[in-house]
Amino acid sequence: MNSTMRKLIQKAEEYYLFVSVKPPIVMERGKGMFLYDVAGKRYLDFIGGWAVNCLGHCYPAITRALKCQAGKLINASPSLYNRPQIEFAELLVKQTCMDKVFFLSTGAEANEGAIKLARKYGSKHKNGAYEIITTRNSFHGRTLATMAATGKEQWKTLFAPGMPGFVHVDFNDLRAVKQNMTEQTIAVMIEPVQGEGGAVPASMDYIRGLRKLCDEKGILLIFDEIQTGYGRTGKFFAYQYFGVEPDIMTLGKGIGGGFPLAALLAKDKFCVFEKGEQGGTYTGQPLAMSVGLAVLKEMLDRNISAHVEKMGFYLKSKLEILENKGLIENSRGLGLLQAFDLKKSTGEEVLKKALKKGLILNSPRPQTIRLIPPLIVEKKHIDEMISILATTLPGGLL
Ligand SMILES: Cc1ncc(COP(=O)(O)O)c(C=O)c1O
Repeated sequence: MNSTMRKLIQKAEEYYLFVSVKPPIVMERGKGMFLYDVAGKRYLDFIGGWAVNCLGHCYPAITRALKCQAGKLINASPSLYNRPQIEFAELLVKQTCMDKVFFLSTGAEANEGAIKLARKYGSKHKNGAYEIITTRNSFHGRTLATMAATGKEQWKTLFAPGMPGFVHVDFNDLRAVKQNMTEQTIAVMIEPVQGEGGAVPASMDYIRGLRKLCDEKGILLIFDEIQTGYGRTGKFFAYQYFGVEPDIMTLGKGIGGGFPLAALLAKDKFCVFEKGEQGGTYTGQPLAMSVGLAVLKEMLDRNISAHVEKMGFYLKSKLEILENKGLIENSRGLGLLQAFDLKKSTGEEVLKKALKKGLILNSPRPQTIRLIPPLIVEKKHIDEMISILATTLPGGLL
């Protein structure tokens, strides 16, 4: 470790509030698929800020939009419209099966909005029904309501008392949803591919069955597409892959290409907020809106989803080779949201070894490695990742 890095890490330990163990590295800049630390070392980025930097690092159109908007208007007021907000809203809504959008800053906030909207619909049209069925191993955010929605056993008692109104069932188990529906149920909320849960896709029958069930009972189907949206699965939205339209959809991560931005979208019938019931200081903030607009235009112009589909197949074929050699197990996922299991719970060790060799990976569970690179990834990056990864696996020198 060089002396600049050592000093910065010491300061971080002294002043930065502890929430998680981080490697002793300080990042300074990024370009495309790569990050560079303060010592100038290059890292191939296969987590993209946790599935956020869809266009890679410092993508010119994003930097341009930020510079240009910063010189015009950084913040107006959430009580006033601004030009990029309206242009972005129109372009985004037109890409979806939804009628309206509301912009926020983080995925958790967007999901809070979805939960509020569902509860409001329940109070207006379903005799006060408020319960939302979500799934085990799901992830919906870190606010108190979205923690309660998340299907992590250990979160049920963390920061108790938790928010009531959520029922957790096994993912991909339609019967369990049916069995847990009551007079109080107002919605089913799922990730079409569980992201933090380890890139586990829903089955076609499950998603289609959920749609049918929700229609029969007159309750809402909410898709949390914060990780699966914006081309990640090889379709612009994962609901298109399943051929099923949700009633409410949330977006985050890729929508801002690295800038804090999220969205709550709904069909007209479910847009039931009344005056003053939803808001926030940074909702529809001009800088975020101009970035969002630039990201979306770029994603569409470059037809990123088609590229993701191709690269997803390529990545899958490479993981299959490692799996056939017995080095990894259960490779799975859709598009560029893929994961595999290790033979043992050695995720942290694999991460450390890879980092030393200039590769950034993610291990959402001790035995699982998840691959969520920027969507601009090319074959040569996948080849480089696989050859480094192989050296971190026991017996994996190719
Ligand atoms: C599916 C899903 N929903 C919600 C969130 C929360 O988003 P944020 O961290 O922006 O609040 C995440 C973040 O990982 C996610 O993957």
